[in-house]
Amino acid sequence: MKAEILKLLRECEDYISGERLSKEFGVSRTAIWKYIHQLKEEGYQIESVTRKGYRLIENADRITASEILSRNHAGWVGKEIEYYEVTDSTNQRIREFAEDGRANGLLAVTEEQTGGKGRRGRTWISPKGSGIWMSLLLRPELEPDQASMVTVVAAVALAKTMTKLTELDVKIKWPNDIVVNKKKVSGILTEMSADMDQIYYIIVGIGINVNTMQFPDEIKNIATSIAIEKGECISRAEFIAEFCAQFERYYEQFLEKGNLSFIQGEYESYLINIGREVKIIKNRKEMIRKAIGINELGELIVEDEDGKQEVVFSGEVSVRGIYDYV
Ligand code: BTN
Repeated sequence: MKAEILKLLRECEDYISGERLSKEFGVSRTAIWKYIHQLKEEGYQIESVTRKGYRLIENADRITASEILSRNHAGWVGKEIEYYEVTDSTNQRIREFAEDGRANGLLAVTEEQTGGKGRRGRTWISPKGSGIWMSLLLRPELEPDQASMVTVVAAVALAKTMTKLTELDVKIKWPNDIVVNKKKVSGILTEMSADMDQIYYIIVGIGINVNTMQFPDEIKNIATSIAIEKGECISRAEFIAEFCAQFERYYEQFLEKGNLSFIQGEYESYLINIGREVKIIKNRKEMIRKAIGINELGELIVEDEDGKQEVVFSGEVSVRGIYDYV
């Protein structure tokens, strides 16, 4: 209800009377006043004028649960949201929620991470207010070896969302880095709890550089943000809501099929490596191969100079461009 009130306030530039709100939502004016009060406590500047009603004054780029829910689709991904001003890592928060039995589709978002984790034990720089740092809890009935495909599903949903909302030329660097202009704009860290034959839960952690304008020296040649590439800022809440809807659609198809055949073509249309030479680094040994595409398990199909094909699996290798990051 709070999110719906916020939505109405945002959409309406003029005042909305307490009476109209109470009719619209079928609750008393006192109840409306309480929700308005809660929104004010969350930091929204809402003007209340006698005989006129309520008006939202500023529309800052917030990512509170109410802000995201006020834009959300009706589905189950992101139906429940836990918001933090600051936390060590949203993957860590979701791990704890998962252990506490929280539901499939729970999303944790934060303005800032103090211990953001990247793949391969790296840190993920997550400064305040400049990005989307979020993690999703999933409880699929899948075999543990199918889990890596969920990351591919998330990468396509992410690429699709970014393309739709920014109109940038968004690409995927195999397996799941999102790149724009050959620089990384977003990464995914999937973690899971499983035993030999079943998954208890999966955590899909996503970091997106949205409004970041400067990066530390060690990554400035390989990292970028939507604001740098687009030259303007976008609404983070809208991005999160759209991602939830896109991910839900692709993920449900994936659960139905059990593999990535339905999304292979779309993934390859984003794949920056396709048809290019890539450097495959495995156990510190490097080899150059041409990337052909992915198979229905999300493995990269590569070809040597004699045209002999083989597949590489994301857990065992790292792939680079032959001169650069891509
Ligand atoms: C990568 O190395 O490319 C993956 C980066 C994943 C970062 C996100 S930010 C939200 C979530 N919480 C974390 O600690 N990591 C992921």
